[in-house]
Amino acid sequence: MSDAAAARIMRDLDDLAGCTSDAGAITRLFLTPSHATAVALVRTWMERAGLTTLLDASGTLVGRDSTASPDTPRLLLGSHIDTVRNAGRYDGCLGVALGIELAARAKQLTLPYTIEIRAFGDEEGVRFPVTLTGALAAAGLQITPARLEARDEDGITMAQALRDFGLDPEALADGDCTASGAFAYLEIHIEQGPVLDKAGAPLGVVTAINGAARFEVTVSGQAGHAGTVPMSQRHDALAATAEMVLAVRQIARARRDVVATVGRLNVAPNAANVIPGTCIFTVDVRAPRDAQRDETVTAIARAVEIAARDNAVGASMQRTHAAPAVACDKRLQGILAEALTTAALPAPHLPSGAGHDAMAMAALCPIGMLFIRCEGGISHHPDEQVTEADVAAALEVMTIALKRLDPETFKSGTSSP
Ligand code: HGY
Ligand code: MN
Ligand code: MN
Repeated sequence: MSDAAAARIMRDLDDLAGCTSDAGAITRLFLTPSHATAVALVRTWMERAGLTTLLDASGTLVGRDSTASPDTPRLLLGSHIDTVRNAGRYDGCLGVALGIELAARAKQLTLPYTIEIRAFGDEEGVRFPVTLTGALAAAGLQITPARLEARDEDGITMAQALRDFGLDPEALADGDCTASGAFAYLEIHIEQGPVLDKAGAPLGVVTAINGAARFEVTVSGQAGHAGTVPMSQRHDALAATAEMVLAVRQIARARRDVVATVGRLNVAPNAANVIPGTCIFTVDVRAPRDAQRDETVTAIARAVEIAARDNAVGASMQRTHAAPAVACDKRLQGILAEALTTAALPAPHLPSGAGHDAMAMAALCPIGMLFIRCEGGISHHPDEQVTEADVAAALEVMTIALKRLDPETFKSGTSSP
């Protein structure tokens, strides 16, 4: 199925890919100049769709229909426009572009609610060791002083970065970012895994989002001359770290449905002829159930301790992020599944191994997610790819779903997981 809007969305996302801090790659970190240029571009999309826009205190770009009366029920559609380093062009951004197109279409439909868009700026949590800042603020959760004091690799705090972006971190305490009164949040996102591609299904209904926990491990040894310190007298931080990294993999491999990743590793002083004195690395742990995740973290902490002792180095493991596993609202799952069936498409249901802004939004209102297949399940990589036909299918299915959504069924605001 083709759709002129789908073709335009693909072109728009090619333009957005140009908002990057790395020539030749897509890297758009929270509150950087590339994030600012992305905000300016996505703002034009929202205005083209007839929405009024504002950048809230958490760096989220909000698009809303100013003709809707304040007491009209609100449906939130959103995702993120920040990326990982050397990213693909669809992760997050596709959901924002689709949401804006649906908001434009909604104006032609007589829906008993209005659509509001959220383009979050900090879902990936790459610049700062925290994540989901915009979604947490939209959900009305406190942006803590510790989060505002989190520093990037240049030592800049998030508070300072917000000020440099023209925002006021003090305003975060006003709660103005909260999307209060929203009756539901729906996020359209690429699957970032191989399930839909393997099943030959263009779209899928998300049942739950795996919980995540992220840690920073600091290993403190003793730097020394690589030529003179006998092996028996070394306190080699990198050798100890290597044992820890392999233990993380071993522990996750031994646990069904659990994944754990060491994604970033800094070595100091990082010179060929110096025994590494310090290593800092990240550990990212995910599982469908929080108890599994927490048991895995305990096993990893124990393995870090043992490797530190065996290598006569010190080690500390500090948690930098945790997001509980969340279930998608059953009513929203049902509406999405029925819409897929009406569109004569398969309606597979699947959990999300990747984290999403929806996991924070679950604190505010019922959440639902529609996955779009991505070729080979490749994501967080420049080869991330979707087809225009699948984007058109997502528009068709979501338009059917929007017509079936009735705010009354979500009156209580509670989720029905
Ligand atoms: O890490 C994640 O799961 C998401 O892509 N931020
Ligand atoms: Mn994403
Ligand atoms: Mn991502």
